[in-house]
Amino acid sequence: MATDVTAQNIDTLFLEQRRYPPPPDFASQANAKPEIYNQSLEDFWAGEARNRISWYQPFDKVLEWEPPYAKWFIGGKLNVAYNCVDRHVEQGHGSKVAFHWEGEPENDTRTITFADLQADVVRFANVLKKMGVKRDTHVGIYMGMVPELPTAMLACARIGAPFTVVFGGFSADSLSGRMNDMECEFLITQDEGWRRGSRVPLKANCDAAMDKSPTVKQCLVVRRTGGDVAMKEGRDVWYHDLAQDASTDPGSCPCEEMDAESLLYLLYTSGTTAKPKGIVHTTAGYLTGVATTHHYIFDIKPDSVYWCAADIGWVTGHSYIVFGPLCNGTTGVMYEGTPDYPDKDRWWGIIERYKVDVLYTAPTAIRTHMKWGPEYAQKHDLSSLRLLGTVGEPINPEAWVWYRDNIGGGRTPVVDTWWQTETGMILITPLPGITTLKPGSATRPFPGVDPAVYDEAGNEVGPGQGGYLVLRKPWPAMLRGIYGDHERYVQTYWSKYKDVYFVGDGARIDEDGDFWLLGRVDDVMNVSAHRISTIEVESALVDHPKVAEAAVCGRSDPQTGQAIVAFVTLKGGDPGSPEMAKELRNHVGTRIGKIASPANIVFTPELPKTRSGKIMRRLLRDVAENRPLGDTTTLADATVVDEISRRAKEDAGKDEA
Ligand code: PRX
Repeated sequence: MATDVTAQNIDTLFLEQRRYPPPPDFASQANAKPEIYNQSLEDFWAGEARNRISWYQPFDKVLEWEPPYAKWFIGGKLNVAYNCVDRHVEQGHGSKVAFHWEGEPENDTRTITFADLQADVVRFANVLKKMGVKRDTHVGIYMGMVPELPTAMLACARIGAPFTVVFGGFSADSLSGRMNDMECEFLITQDEGWRRGSRVPLKANCDAAMDKSPTVKQCLVVRRTGGDVAMKEGRDVWYHDLAQDASTDPGSCPCEEMDAESLLYLLYTSGTTAKPKGIVHTTAGYLTGVATTHHYIFDIKPDSVYWCAADIGWVTGHSYIVFGPLCNGTTGVMYEGTPDYPDKDRWWGIIERYKVDVLYTAPTAIRTHMKWGPEYAQKHDLSSLRLLGTVGEPINPEAWVWYRDNIGGGRTPVVDTWWQTETGMILITPLPGITTLKPGSATRPFPGVDPAVYDEAGNEVGPGQGGYLVLRKPWPAMLRGIYGDHERYVQTYWSKYKDVYFVGDGARIDEDGDFWLLGRVDDVMNVSAHRISTIEVESALVDHPKVAEAAVCGRSDPQTGQAIVAFVTLKGGDPGSPEMAKELRNHVGTRIGKIASPANIVFTPELPKTRSGKIMRRLLRDVAENRPLGDTTTLADATVVDEISRRAKEDAGKDEA
């Protein structure tokens, strides 16, 4: 029996033994050298800020830390759009490609050079100004993955207008909630977006949102599909109508000189069912943080073609499609649609076409490709790839190895990058060329980052023990609060332990000092007084050759406190069977121990996910608690699948992100 003390921690069950040292040829050319870890926090960031950013006025102090608020690069003045666009043109890189953009309909592509991007941003900013947008006007942006989305973000940054991007898959209600919270006066959208061949009614959603958002006075509409949309006289304006007379001369719309700590954007994040939090990101620290991490972690070279396959509506897209890569003058790929349109090899065709060398995506996407099978990737030449990355959830070791073998040709390092909307930038990550990789581990803190694993009482736990992840020192891109809600900021992140940022994730540090993320602490299961993390049981299931994806949760059990329920998707559409369930239960038993063997196994063709691709374990918990489940419940019992999908839809309506 576990004692009370161990019951407070999280048990470690899953031990992954595979190791991937950096290939010598990669190490010899890598941007990050081992000395990168030797500098002090302030020296490291001051150096990066000076080298990577063009300042109108240099900063006079690197850091002011008065918990729970940090200020970075105080006294400095800069403009994000100037750093991401204009200076590259001034330095003679105007003809370099900024984005290879690919629309969802095939053969609908655009090549946008840095000079094109500069003209686009200046034109867009002039249109915004003409409509009355000024420094400090709050702007909402609700668009799909079209080139005008980064253009609009950069145009706002050029003028000094703080913005919030709302993911184009969100409902009108979610949009209006965010417009109201930020008190946006202006909304930028497009007529419709493309998604798996159908049209997403973005402008119509804006109409419904604006009915409930009295602060929004005007709406600028970019034409994308050419579909019919209603335009309200005096409120709605077509972008192309104003753009034709707008100047593209940078001198016609100078970049505003912004203070280091001025508000750049808000990004709303929910996580639970509570009202979304407007996470505050400011200017200089954020830009320095994302550009620096992008350079070292993705080993970006002047001729790199880098593809972050996230949506710009999430923080990953803000930091690693728009601001980090553009600040570094990197050529990026942007794709509008879904990975299976018109077929499941769409991504691999894009990599072949543009000779992408770095691909950054989420475990959910990798597991989906795993489920579809490697034959889609095999149709294409992926030999341009040098490096792969993942973000968003813990990655099951088998999915990591599948990614490296089938997409990375068994050659490429895979960087598992841990961070959050709140952190703004990657904080725990391998540095390719230095770090020996372990599938499933995000490995090391980025230079200057100081994470630790605490028990309930705030003591550091020893190697191999699970506990609560905390961050003990500030970092440049950290959130500067929750917009308009100091109390909630303190309550959510700074109350559990004094002056230490509470992440909300479980983690353990192994004997080598490598970090293993164990998922959200709310998801931890309590079986016979053992605290078991979902990820370890899921990874043991995905370790079985027939399993593509698995999600586990606890349901109450009179004997053990909680019993583990596993929802499992098999590869190649296999519906599962009682024999298979038994085999999986045994597999988990031998792989990590009987205690973690699921009491119930539910085979399902899909797992419910948030729109950013995270498994919704809370919803599975509801399903598991509220209906009788057999030892094995197969697809034949369609009501379970129906119930999962019905609840997923209901939850989507509630705007779980
Ligand atoms: O639980 C962690 C998980 O995603 C959370 C942050 O989600 P979000 O704010 O949506 O940002 C996602 C993109 C940065 C974290 O608290 N998470 C993110 N990356 C990883 C991860 N869990 C394990 N390993 C990761 N690499």
